[in-house]
Amino acid sequence: MRKTLRFLIGNEPVEIEGCDPTLTVLDWLRLERRMTGSKEGCAEGDCGACTVVVGRLDHGRLRYEAINACIRFLPTLDGCQLLTVEHLKGGDGSLHPVQQAMVECHGSQCGFCTPGFVMSLLALRLNEAEPSIARIEDALAGNLCRCTGYEPIIAAGRRMDAISPREADPFLKQCETTAAKLATLQDGKTLALEGQGRRFYAPATVSALAELIAAHPQAALVAGATDVGLWVTKGMKQLDPVVYLGRIEGLRGVSDEGDHLRFGAMATLVDVRNALADLSPQLDELMRRFGGEQVRNAGTIGGNIANGSPIGDLPPALIALKATLVLAKSADGGEIERRTLPLESFFLDYRKQDRRPGEFVEAVSVPKLPSDALFNVSKVSKRFDEDISAVCGAFRLRRDANGFITETRLAYGGMAGIPKRAKAAEAALIGRPWDEEAVAAAIAALPQDFTPLDDMRASARYRLTVAGNLLRRFLIETTEQPARTRVAGLLAEAAHG
Ligand SMILES: Cc1cc2nc3c(=O)[nH]c(=O)nc-3n(C[C@H](O)[C@H](O)[C@H](O)COP(=O)(O)OP(=O)(O)OC[C@H]3O[C@@H](n4cnc5c(N)ncnc54)[C@H](O)[C@@H]3O)c2cc1C
Ligand code: FES
Ligand code: FES
Repeated sequence: MRKTLRFLIGNEPVEIEGCDPTLTVLDWLRLERRMTGSKEGCAEGDCGACTVVVGRLDHGRLRYEAINACIRFLPTLDGCQLLTVEHLKGGDGSLHPVQQAMVECHGSQCGFCTPGFVMSLLALRLNEAEPSIARIEDALAGNLCRCTGYEPIIAAGRRMDAISPREADPFLKQCETTAAKLATLQDGKTLALEGQGRRFYAPATVSALAELIAAHPQAALVAGATDVGLWVTKGMKQLDPVVYLGRIEGLRGVSDEGDHLRFGAMATLVDVRNALADLSPQLDELMRRFGGEQVRNAGTIGGNIANGSPIGDLPPALIALKATLVLAKSADGGEIERRTLPLESFFLDYRKQDRRPGEFVEAVSVPKLPSDALFNVSKVSKRFDEDISAVCGAFRLRRDANGFITETRLAYGGMAGIPKRAKAAEAALIGRPWDEEAVAAAIAALPQDFTPLDDMRASARYRLTVAGNLLRRFLIETTEQPARTRVAGLLAEAAHG
């Protein structure tokens, strides 16, 4: 085991021996390093004022990601490079092209949000050449500004590469040197830290993870910390011990296995989006509206499933796609014992999952859709961007040669204490042609499946009405071409006059 946390801040190596396991990157920067460029607005991943960029090795290649420093724990940076707004100024005091673009486009007024926007734009520039307006909007959806308004900031996103070509960016020019430095920090040992009387472990292999969880069955497992971070910053929880899964490369992979996609539990939501987009354009839209880019860079598929939230966005979609879950744990003789179960049976009751002592989510397997399957997913939330669903519905349906429905899955989030299939509504569809009458029969059956909650996101009546309307949208979108049923589509139409 190694007892020292090691990472780069800018190009400077940092080594830390004792560390509070849940000290946030933002608190460390502002309170310990006195680097106050990154701001704290909400401390819950919503406003983006704390955005920093993290460079990490992904199968040997350097990958830059904008993340929220307010909910990321410092020890999870082991082996990474941390870039803050303080690292942008050139040696001669000149502004970085992203900063210069913000100046030229009048992208800042009070300036509180500005470092966050600058860092989100930096990550975009490091990853993509000539981003479209849609991609700039995407990359900035996790940043809020109360005074400037977004047009000048989006204009800065379009201007930055004209000020200086992307290839000349100092961070990209140093990419190989940085990757080499980070490679020296990957030692394959478990990191074991202690601070404030609490423990933090970051294993580097699946078997080390399994052994640690067996030894500490009550440990708080941390993946992207986009949920767990809030237990600390808002719930004031003291977690001990913490076991971080992010150093295990074997849990990060996404692979095409022919008839199905396999996602390691630590696959980020960005990678999940890219892979699922090939199955259906609506999955791309669903994932584009999952948090902001910072949340999607950090958050993982395993975390979204394992947290068992009734309003998590992926579970309904994955249940409709017939996904299965691989759970793993340590077994005798240093072996790993695995079991596979349909995703829907993992969710037992509100926040209660079928996860046995010592088990962790290792992977998710998602069958590809048969060519004759109709599929559709819809998220309804109060805000279009960066908001959790009031209701999410994912539907799949197949018909025989005569057009009668033979197989269907209607999975919902936000309708019960767990993500759940509407089995009565499914039964009402079987044997019918796919038409308005079938939809009416399924809608009439929905109250047998669900007695939704009234809460701040939506009333029970609203939820039930929306659940039915989403089914009607499924019918319209699969039978009427072209269907004008999506806000994203209407916005694109408006943009093109
Ligand atoms: C601003 C903001 C916006 C958000 N928007 C959305 C949204 O639009 N839709 C949505 O669904 N969610 C949203 N979320 C919630 C969150 O981002 C997701 O649930 C995310 O997928 C959690 O993944 P994570 O890797 O960050 O999990 P973590 O926070 O690290 O962990 C979540 C839970 O899963 C457990 N866990 C993690 N990995 C494993 C594993 N491999 N095995 C066993 N247990 C594990 C942890 O112990 C914890 O209980 C949002 C969060 C924030 C802060
Ligand atoms: S302070 Fe608001 S997202 Fe971090
Ligand atoms: S410039 Fe004031 S909040 Fe954005």
